[in-house]
Amino acid sequence: MNAKLIDGKAVAQSIKDEIKAEIEKITAGGGRAPALAVVLVGHDPASQIYVKNKRKACHAVGITSVEHLLDESTGEKTLLDVITILNNDDDIDGILVQLPLPKQISEPAVLEHINPLKDVDGFHPVNVGRLVANSPGLRPCTPAGILELLKRSGQDLVGKKVAVLGRSNIVGKPTATLLLHESCTVTICHSKTRHLADITRSADILIAAIGRPEFVTADMVKPSAVVIDVGVNRTPKGVVGDVDFEGVKKVAGYLSPVPGGVGPMTIAMLMYNTLKAYKGLSRRPVGGGH
Ligand code: GUN
Repeated sequence: MNAKLIDGKAVAQSIKDEIKAEIEKITAGGGRAPALAVVLVGHDPASQIYVKNKRKACHAVGITSVEHLLDESTGEKTLLDVITILNNDDDIDGILVQLPLPKQISEPAVLEHINPLKDVDGFHPVNVGRLVANSPGLRPCTPAGILELLKRSGQDLVGKKVAVLGRSNIVGKPTATLLLHESCTVTICHSKTRHLADITRSADILIAAIGRPEFVTADMVKPSAVVIDVGVNRTPKGVVGDVDFEGVKKVAGYLSPVPGGVGPMTIAMLMYNTLKAYKGLSRRPVGGGH
């Protein structure tokens, strides 16, 4: 039996269509379009592609895209000053600082400097706290995209056993938290996990986010399980996921491909978060310093 493919490109397109329609209503009524500021430090080729894709998505849905391209040698203070200006600019709704940053800049210092109400990445500790507390806030884009992909492909989540492979702040931990709030029973696995295959083989839903090419093989997957591949690994044979696609598709019930699975969802959810920040739905101001 072959798994049903979860078409992230199509799901992302329908989310972007919904966002576009909402923004058209706003602007037709005389409102300003939502605006996203993207800050890129340096010339990392992968980051440049991400930034280009974000710009294209903004244009497609009617979000104003503003880019700040800073030199590789930029100091932390200069970057913090740029963020302060964006924090105080009433015409900017979302701020995204592309990661990774050059080594002279502290990533936590930068992420904590972004106004949580404009933190469309959902990486600020205030938004991390709100996620854990299941209170309103901006959710990280890839985890939110994974959840949306599961829901819109018709998965029933309540009571399901989930194995999340990977414990990163960007994907593993927030994805596990979102699925816990959907009443899943979640196990987070990592490089030190013992008897990993026993855990993955008992999972109804398997999320692979470890950054190891084709790590998840058919023998690790429960028959008919839902498998979501978050990996983007550049290998000599091209970009591959964390899942051995050809092997696993013979066992799984549903499988998200790479490319065309989670990737397009991340950008769609960034557009969603920017519109949400514009509408002020990311909630109460925090502190007074921003
Ligand atoms: N670099 C890789 N993924 C991400 C992401 O989700 N957000 C940001 N800001 N940088 C990234």
